[in-house]
Amino acid sequence: MAIERVLPLYTGNMARIMSGIQPTGNLHIGNYLGALVNWVKMQEQFECFYCVVDLHALTRRPAAEVLRQAVREVAIGILASGVDPERATLFVQSQVPQHSELAWVLTCMTPLGDLHRMTQFKDKSTQQPENINTGLFSYPILQTADIVLYRADRVPVGEDQEQHLELARETVRRFNGIYGDTFPEPQVVKSVAPRVLGLDGEKKMSKSLNNEIGLFESADETMQKLRGAKTDPARLRKTDPGNPEVCNIFRYHKFFTGAEQRAEIDAGCRSAALGCVDCKKLLSANLEVVKGPIRERATLLREQPKRLDEILDAGAARARAEAEATMQIVRDRVGLRQTKR
Ligand code: TYM
Repeated sequence: MAIERVLPLYTGNMARIMSGIQPTGNLHIGNYLGALVNWVKMQEQFECFYCVVDLHALTRRPAAEVLRQAVREVAIGILASGVDPERATLFVQSQVPQHSELAWVLTCMTPLGDLHRMTQFKDKSTQQPENINTGLFSYPILQTADIVLYRADRVPVGEDQEQHLELARETVRRFNGIYGDTFPEPQVVKSVAPRVLGLDGEKKMSKSLNNEIGLFESADETMQKLRGAKTDPARLRKTDPGNPEVCNIFRYHKFFTGAEQRAEIDAGCRSAALGCVDCKKLLSANLEVVKGPIRERATLLREQPKRLDEILDAGAARARAEAEATMQIVRDRVGLRQTKR
């Protein structure tokens, strides 16, 4: 895939990987660069558990049918981006009830103060003031359960998830301190693009901020959005020279455009030989090199709903076996009775 040409991808040495994506709206290039490129790369070397976190999405109270559809679309996006269900375990969170079970055990050991520090809770409370539910507050505990249930030691995520991972490590230390060594401390695996900005050039690219470049968008749709996107604010006329270092469009070029063409764009911008619209057209074409094949694979997957069900059900069965093995240890350590399954 073209992205491999320009992105130095993660190449570490580790055992277990776990990560998740919420089924809310369509995936965007922030999800792709911040997390998915590493998901795809890591499956080649490690044992990976990738999860569509529908229980987390309940904090937004989506309509049932909307959630069901979003789960499928996000799973399709993950597969179309290159996650191979033969190599990695791809599953839907609610099909593995041990996530909720462990989340409760961990909830009972998490001080309120730890959760009060979480900035995402504050952001979400502002975004949905009419629905500040308890799930939004305890959300990072469920996320910790997601990770430690698979005894994962590395978690490929964007920068916005770092605080949650800090809380996960603290929780692990607390659990291990009380009950003896049980879980490894999970570390963040950052991609080269841990915080992709949205088309506004100011805020993180996000489905809820409506500033995203969607992974399934056509070249025309993307170009339409790029036309209105912020560039160097000092470049008012086409004849004004620009500064690529302050231009958000050039930031995207860093991820989607090869070094040689990028150097030409840099020079063209500085000398005003290349106008912003033409620069955006080049970006749109290079984005399409990545998005086009993803969109095509997604279309094929949508035509095979049974195949998708099989992939997700098989993934859930594998995940349940792992999760149950961990829960048996946890139940034993905290004093809960085992259930024969
Ligand atoms: P979510 O669904 O918001 O995002 C999925 C992944 O995409 C990354 N990401 C970004 N990276 C760079 N720039 C951006 N603009 C950008 N926007 C999103 C996120 O950092 C994330 O890696 N709480 C998590 C889901 C979760 C999870 C987990 C993750 C639940 N349980 C266990 C890891 C492990 C979330 O809401 O991600």
